[in-house]
Amino acid sequence: MDMRVADAAALPLEDASADLAIAFMSLHDIDAMPVAVHEIARVLERGGRLCLAIVHPINSAGRFETEQGDAPFVIKGDYLRPFSYSDKIDRDGLSMTFHSQHRPLEAYFLALEEAGFLVETLREPGVPSHAADLERRHRWQRLPLFLHIRARIVSRGSPMDWKLDRGANGDYIARAMAQLAIPAPADRAHATSV
Ligand SMILES: C[S@@+](CC[C@H](N)C(=O)[O-])C[C@H]1O[C@@H](n2cnc3c(N)ncnc32)[C@H](O)[C@@H]1O
Repeated sequence: MDMRVADAAALPLEDASADLAIAFMSLHDIDAMPVAVHEIARVLERGGRLCLAIVHPINSAGRFETEQGDAPFVIKGDYLRPFSYSDKIDRDGLSMTFHSQHRPLEAYFLALEEAGFLVETLREPGVPSHAADLERRHRWQRLPLFLHIRARIVSRGSPMDWKLDRGANGDYIARAMAQLAIPAPADRAHATSV
């Protein structure tokens, strides 16, 4: 397997050279997250997919007041304002500090939208029952720990360019546009005149 280590905001890969990209627990640690998402879009072929997992934005926005299972979760600052935070993890004698960014959900969806992605599935996992052996873990059965998204590249521009991606996927795109209340191409002249 060809393995390369590189900055996610400058991938050393050709345009449209991949059919699947995985960003596992990394986009919230990447300063130039929207640039990295554009880079992923660039290297994916049309119809290619991105699977990403991040710390859920509600998780990074606040914290539980105590370790009790029914502890209140408090957001002292702003959910909508991005900010930096660090987590120091000690394990097996090793100490690691992760420098992350809290960003609201909209920041990720805007980056995906602007890079031409259509979100297909979204999951908000908490701690599963079989792993909730400690009381403090019960708290994360009430709120999501992580956010999982699978997105498909449908265009290289804004959602208004989706009209270019018809053919076999025309119905799928039209349904998605309807769900997002984006006028279908045939209706757009009418819609923009109101
Ligand atoms: C929480 S770790 C997850 C690593 C790995 N995916 C895993 O599951 O073990 C986040 C990683 O993102 C990396 N990272 C941060 N900014 C980056 C960038 N601009 N380009 C590539 N990697 C970056 C960090 O070095 C760190 O290894």
